[in-house]
Amino acid sequence: MLDKLKRWNTKKENITTPSKEDVLSRPVPKHIAIIMDGNGRWANKRALPRIAGHHEGMKVVRKITRVANELGVQVLTLYAFSTENWKRPKQEVEYLMKLPEEFLGTFLPELVEQNVRVQMMGNHNEIPIHTRNAVERAIEETKDNTGLILNFALNYGSRDEITKAIKQIASDVKAGQISETDIDDQLVSQYLMTRKIKDPDLLIRTSGEYRLSNFMLWQLAYTEFWFTDILWPDFSESELLEAIDEFQKRNRRYGGV
Ligand code: FPP
Repeated sequence: MLDKLKRWNTKKENITTPSKEDVLSRPVPKHIAIIMDGNGRWANKRALPRIAGHHEGMKVVRKITRVANELGVQVLTLYAFSTENWKRPKQEVEYLMKLPEEFLGTFLPELVEQNVRVQMMGNHNEIPIHTRNAVERAIEETKDNTGLILNFALNYGSRDEITKAIKQIASDVKAGQISETDIDDQLVSQYLMTRKIKDPDLLIRTSGEYRLSNFMLWQLAYTEFWFTDILWPDFSESELLEAIDEFQKRNRRYGGV
């Protein structure tokens, strides 16, 4: 375990980045989920306001989406705003709520050209109307695309998602639509926001933090984790390839031997 932690922490220059061809010669994770952390620290280091870090982080979203799509990844889920992020200063929250608009306003034509399909999971109703409109327009415009699903977790919290699922299951049992004996893990999965997508194969978290921060707690049960000290605005194709290369060396046993 300690060896693994050391490896996760190893600075980039000590690792040889695998080539795209190497990575493509082995099975690529179908669903990659990323906790994009470290925007604020990236900005602080440069004596810039925190929002400058978020803006730089948005540019990385563009690059990583393109590479993931080229690698044949089927779903890329990005933690863009959590149900806890409302606690941040008002100005930062407002900026974070403008970012999807800016991102999609600038890059939607590119996403369409790349055959990317935009989706969102989270509580739609509580986000500002301008943010919701931008995301819903992108979802509509890309709904027939067959390439990478770019799934933004926006105003998303896993405990909130699971709580809502439990309430809905209880209500459906009460209404006689399902019976208590129907409840198993597959049924629960069908009540979550990810009902149409497979669980992540690989979770990446940047910035040297080793926690899940209320992200996809149910869906990550058998996911492989990869952590890096790199701050999200510095994350690049090389780190994505390293993460996938490491994933390809893991032996997934799903509780078996
Ligand atoms: C965490 O870093 C990051 C966020 C809460 C926001 C992530 C958002 C982006 C990367 C841009 C999203 C782009 C689109 C297109 C929606 P932090 O602010 O907690 O960093 P810190 O821990 O260093 O302070």
